[in-house]
Amino acid sequence: MQDFSRLDDLVQQALGIIEKAGSENELKELKVTYLGKKGKVTSYFKALGSAPAQERKALGQQVNRARQAIENALAVREEAIKLDALDQKLEARKVDVTLPGRPFGRGTVHILDQVMDRILDLFSGLGFDVVLGPEVETSWNNFDALNFPPDHPARDMQDTVFIEDEIVLRTHTSPVQVRTMKSRKPPLRVVCPGVVYRRDTPDATHAPAFFQVEGLMVGEHVSFAELKGTLNLFARKLFGEGDTRFRPSFFPFTEPSAEMDVRCFACGGEGCALCKQSGWIEILGCGMVDPAVFDAVGYDNEKYTGWAFGMGVERIAMLRHAIDDIRLFAENDLRFLKQFV
Ligand code: DAH
Repeated sequence: MQDFSRLDDLVQQALGIIEKAGSENELKELKVTYLGKKGKVTSYFKALGSAPAQERKALGQQVNRARQAIENALAVREEAIKLDALDQKLEARKVDVTLPGRPFGRGTVHILDQVMDRILDLFSGLGFDVVLGPEVETSWNNFDALNFPPDHPARDMQDTVFIEDEIVLRTHTSPVQVRTMKSRKPPLRVVCPGVVYRRDTPDATHAPAFFQVEGLMVGEHVSFAELKGTLNLFARKLFGEGDTRFRPSFFPFTEPSAEMDVRCFACGGEGCALCKQSGWIEILGCGMVDPAVFDAVGYDNEKYTGWAFGMGVERIAMLRHAIDDIRLFAENDLRFLKQFV
């Protein structure tokens, strides 16, 4: 039999303990201790049944008040504990807004992009469209359409990366000429920048992947004189005033073909290490589009003529900025890259 006169003491004791509870877990345990199925206050509810009938109502109200008081105390303490935890969290994460900011380093445009942009800008200014093509090409676009004979050494597995039988990593940007002519009618003027791949062992002047820019102009009465005029202008803009010369050369996709040299800008033509004592530096290959290429893409080779050129961007950058090793472009060494801000 419970002694109801001790209930108030029990409640006072409980409130004291609850007020000192330090965690939500502790509160849970206290709730069980007082209000759980076998809790200390609960036992008073159970005892009501055996209390004298005339006292039962008052005693019931007393036990209810006791439970209410403990529930309130638990709720108040829980709220306080939660606020404490939040305070601690905020304190730990405090930001000192008076600290100076961390400097955010600005990147620089890669020197190859700078040179590429320059080249494309020059040709855009002359009305050329910039056209892109895929790096994985059919060997038809990369070789056949460009008039490479079936046994041409460039097709060799030694030189070309084959993906499958008739699929290669393009060895030059010239297949973009083919794609352009297959999808557009003349007249047209395009420049085609992009990466090309060759099976070369890297050294100071060879890289297995490098950038080229291709140019193509097709129309009626397009002449070699225009080719020379355009490329001379380009060379002057890129390398400054100075002579150029066109030497006869050979490419399967142009006839006649030429290589363009600029007067050595290091020695002015006297002869030095850069120009290998010749006074001239080769910068690109070019020529009149071979009629066989027009045949391959379905252009009327009686009606249309055209010229094309191709150059290596690394080579141009190396010449312009006196860079002596092509591998530097791909190494991402900031000491190298920051020289070209
Ligand atoms: N495709 C040649 C190469 O990779 C470069 C080239 C030469 C492109 C002459 C041309 C050209 O369009 O007319 O070496």
